[in-house]
Amino acid sequence: MRPALLYHRRHVASSLRRAYAARTAHPPRRQTARPQPIDPAYPVGEPSSPANPPATPPSSFAPWILGALAAGIGFYSLQIYLAASKPCLNPHIADLAAQKDVAARYDYTATSFDSEVGFSELLMGVNGLRKELARKCHGDVLEVSCGTGRNLGYYDIEGQDAKVESLGFIDLSPQMVEVCRQKWVALFGNQKAQQKLMPGLKVRFMTGSALGDMPLAPSGKKYDTIFQTMGLCSTASPAELLDNMVRHLDTSQPESRILLLEHGRSYLPWLNRVLDNSAEKHAELHGCWFNREIGQLVEQAAEQSGLEVVSERRHHLGTTWVFELKPTEDTVKKARADLPVAATRQREKEDQGGWLNKLGWK
Ligand SMILES: C[S@@+](CC[C@H](N)C(=O)[O-])C[C@H]1O[C@@H](n2cnc3c(N)ncnc32)[C@H](O)[C@@H]1O
Repeated sequence: MRPALLYHRRHVASSLRRAYAARTAHPPRRQTARPQPIDPAYPVGEPSSPANPPATPPSSFAPWILGALAAGIGFYSLQIYLAASKPCLNPHIADLAAQKDVAARYDYTATSFDSEVGFSELLMGVNGLRKELARKCHGDVLEVSCGTGRNLGYYDIEGQDAKVESLGFIDLSPQMVEVCRQKWVALFGNQKAQQKLMPGLKVRFMTGSALGDMPLAPSGKKYDTIFQTMGLCSTASPAELLDNMVRHLDTSQPESRILLLEHGRSYLPWLNRVLDNSAEKHAELHGCWFNREIGQLVEQAAEQSGLEVVSERRHHLGTTWVFELKPTEDTVKKARADLPVAATRQREKEDQGGWLNKLGWK
């Protein structure tokens, strides 16, 4: 019992000590600041120093602008949702046979075309794609379906070492060609710009269909590069147009290229429903069928006409297509066999020259 009692006594004593220590260890009471007099010129809670003037109230327009923006996005999303969820009334609207020829529309929209497409192309980075392809153009270049000349500023045409030797622009619509020509004058018409251009650069603006015979390059040869942007959507016969490009390409040169930037169907079914549902109205208004199966069209045409696809890329959920096509080895051989002997020798000489050039010899 004793030890237990002793323990009990000690326990009581230590408990009393701890309680006393806890009381005395209590943090000293904070000194309360003296209440400051309230300055009626400043709201309560703000320091009443003139060095910190009150914040200006937020503009009352901001909520309205944000609200309008949100309503606009909401409305636009709803439209897309509705178009994506209803089946297309015309299930054949993506078939070429069901799409009427609307190319004449550009005669009426030529002057407003740039302002209609400019902002969306800027937002989507289309200008970068235009530039990338235009910079690949070399030798005698033909831009078909050139429209208002949206690629004009991107060609390699300045300085002695410019890659482009001649530039031809052709379009079915005289109004579009005229806008293109005026743009050229605005960009390169002045003396300073002219002096920068490659000496001897030949530039031509032509009105005519890219489905028929097109003029040869100024050198009297076929073209080294044929370039088209957003053209397969606007012709009634895209396969024939591709075929005709190959006919005008110098396929005896392995470096010859067809470069395409096109737009069409997506790889997303819901987006294709949106495109199909609005395709007819869009075509009538803008002269372009944006629901075509571009990949299939180009690949088929390439195979049939002896071209191979060097590269193929899609952007913007698959609706924008970038193609680089070149003649296959067989096509080059065949084209050379068809050339007069002198011309074949010349080509072979140029090929060898190409190798010597690479080694730094001319
Ligand atoms: C969508 S616009 C594209 C214009 C321009 N290439 C661009 O990237 O902005 C299509 C153009 O193709 C032209 N086009 C349609 N059918 C054509 C044809 N058979 N031959 C030449 N151009 C044609 C139209 O006149 C129009 O200028």
